Amino acid sequence: MPQTNSATGHTGDPAGFAALTDDLGLLYGGDYNPEQWDRDTWREDVRLMVEAGVNLVTVGVFSWARYEPRPGVRDFGWLDEVLDLLHVAGVAVDLATPTASPPPWLGTLHPDTLPVDADGVRLVAGSRNQFSPASRVYREHALAITRDLVDRYAGHPAVRMWHVGNELGQVCYGEESAAEFRRWLRDRYGTVEALNEAWATAVWSQHYASFDEILPPRRTPYHVNPTQSLDFRRYTSDQLLALYREQRELIRAVDTERPVTTNLMGFFPLADYWSWAQDLDVVADDAYPDPGDPRSPADAALTADLVRSLGGGRPWMLMEAAVGAVSWRDHNLPKTPARSRREALQAVAHGADGVCYFQWRASRAGAERFHSAMLPHAGPDTRVHAGVVRVGGDLARLRDVVGQRVPARVVVLFDWESWWAAEEQARPTERLRTLDVLRAWYRVLWDAGVAVDLAHPDDLAVTGAAGYDVLLVPQSYLLSPEAADAVAAAAARGASVVVGCFTGVADQDAHVRTGRFPALLSDLLGVSGEEWAALPDDGVPLTGRLAGPGGSTATDLADAGDGPRAHVLGELLRADGAEVLASYAVGHLAGAPAVTRHRVPGLDGGAADTADPTAGWAWYLGTVLPEPLLRRVLTDACERAGVTGALPGLTDLPDVEAVRRGDHLFLLNHSGAAAHVPVPGEHADVLSGSIFTDVVDVPAGDVVVLTERNA
Ligand code: GAL
Repeated sequence: MPQTNSATGHTGDPAGFAALTDDLGLLYGGDYNPEQWDRDTWREDVRLMVEAGVNLVTVGVFSWARYEPRPGVRDFGWLDEVLDLLHVAGVAVDLATPTASPPPWLGTLHPDTLPVDADGVRLVAGSRNQFSPASRVYREHALAITRDLVDRYAGHPAVRMWHVGNELGQVCYGEESAAEFRRWLRDRYGTVEALNEAWATAVWSQHYASFDEILPPRRTPYHVNPTQSLDFRRYTSDQLLALYREQRELIRAVDTERPVTTNLMGFFPLADYWSWAQDLDVVADDAYPDPGDPRSPADAALTADLVRSLGGGRPWMLMEAAVGAVSWRDHNLPKTPARSRREALQAVAHGADGVCYFQWRASRAGAERFHSAMLPHAGPDTRVHAGVVRVGGDLARLRDVVGQRVPARVVVLFDWESWWAAEEQARPTERLRTLDVLRAWYRVLWDAGVAVDLAHPDDLAVTGAAGYDVLLVPQSYLLSPEAADAVAAAAARGASVVVGCFTGVADQDAHVRTGRFPALLSDLLGVSGEEWAALPDDGVPLTGRLAGPGGSTATDLADAGDGPRAHVLGELLRADGAEVLASYAVGHLAGAPAVTRHRVPGLDGGAADTADPTAGWAWYLGTVLPEPLLRRVLTDACERAGVTGALPGLTDLPDVEAVRRGDHLFLLNHSGAAAHVPVPGEHADVLSGSIFTDVVDVPAGDVVVLTERNA
């Protein structure tokens, strides 16, 4: 049944995607741009797709100028032929609305369709994405071509999925955007006085007499109003979502069954995907981890967990990835086929029911001529293409994984508005980055093979954190009272809660909460603070005692040998009942607590009693901890809540990832050394057919997917 989004009345319906994967198995393929090639090449493409196990291609993402070479003209004949060829070969099509790249004539005839940047510069055709999401004329043309495309192909048997636009992420500061922004602000605030209040326009003489005076945060002489900037981000996200919705509605009016989606971009900074996810029949993501970054495997896992969580845990789809090197970084390191395969299987391990690439055949010309592809310039007789064929075989063998879930008992709170607000201009330090903190915390859990969901703090307030035994709040700047209550309630029923610095700082208008901080959580944490302090470049030494992993005795930090130092930001805290685990040894914050732990009274509200099984624990990290100390805290939090990783002892095997999905155990060896992984019992590797008893050998860079034998 469609899930109704009560706030919008729009629906996302997972049933269509489930039906598709039930039929086709795990989806495998990529963007296919036949307009760049001749008819003979199409035939070769289709033959090679079938040989590679490709069962889905995304067609038409950038075909608008080909469909509509002159205003109002239509040329779909070539697409008829392509779709027929694909259908006969059994390759399904995810048909895109071509609205990501309007033809040059649109900007020539209607310059106001073109986007304007914060400096007032109008961007022009010659690349792609040259449209303003607020432009009425652009939207009319986009809907017109979409309507004709959908009318023509909704009944075509090759078409099994719809793909709206591409990576919706445009931002525009022009006149029409300003008008739309004002409309959005009227909806949000009702009166200009309410806006003045929310934007605190008493500061710096910014008071507005009317909505008509308000502009997007274009280039200003000095720091822009942080709430104005935050609201413009909220508006931009909503405006982009509106673009998606109007094309989706048009498709839905003709085709009520096939799934409709658009490709998200993980932790993309310009759209609040929590507010989008309900409108996607399947959450689809584009992921381009940097092969040059040693942290990529963990970061990619985090992104995958985010994307799965956006869809409430249901299967998602990796819509785009690079088989090898991209061409848009300054220096584009390649990937071995083994790495590419590992990344594909990692997505599946984390809940993806499809893996697709950009793109099928490497372009000979144009801006992406040096971007890798499933079929490289050198043709099928290549290492890269052999790797692609191999992954096709792997995914076919993993058919039983379709629809299976990734259970998690740990939830990490993250939301875009907090991220945006925490990183507006002019704050204690620009070095505290929400995603850096999130990634550091996540990496500790990833190393230990602990499965993680992400959640919007306010959603947690609705669901009551049911099913989670560990709640992590690395940095939720705008934490709401309802979300804070939900976190406290979880601790009161026995969960471990860990809260990081600079959390709960401001309200939804980005006004700093007054009184000792973090106001909404200080009872839970048993600690409160009064000053934020940027720390010196080399950090500040910590003293105290923190328990090591595995319940080992607390180690005196001075003897820990790792010279632990607090970094980036500290807080002048006072323990109000919490136990102080570490404090600052010197400097501005000398003697103040840096890390605390508090026994939380159980649901009966009685005194905190160490023997009370319903009582939880709450840690506060008032600074950015070095990795070994962060590890101790998070490990302690998991152990006290009885949460363990997919396999014991995994932390002793660096860069070996273990993920359970349904009855499958994925072991991914991201390291350069063979791993001998203790897995009690007898297991079969679905990919190779090998049988293992008690110890599983995973060669360097390889992957095994285990099922229990005789289970
Ligand atoms: C994506 C985009 C694709 C292609 C790809 C290259 O952002 O959606 O069209 O450009 O990057 O990595």
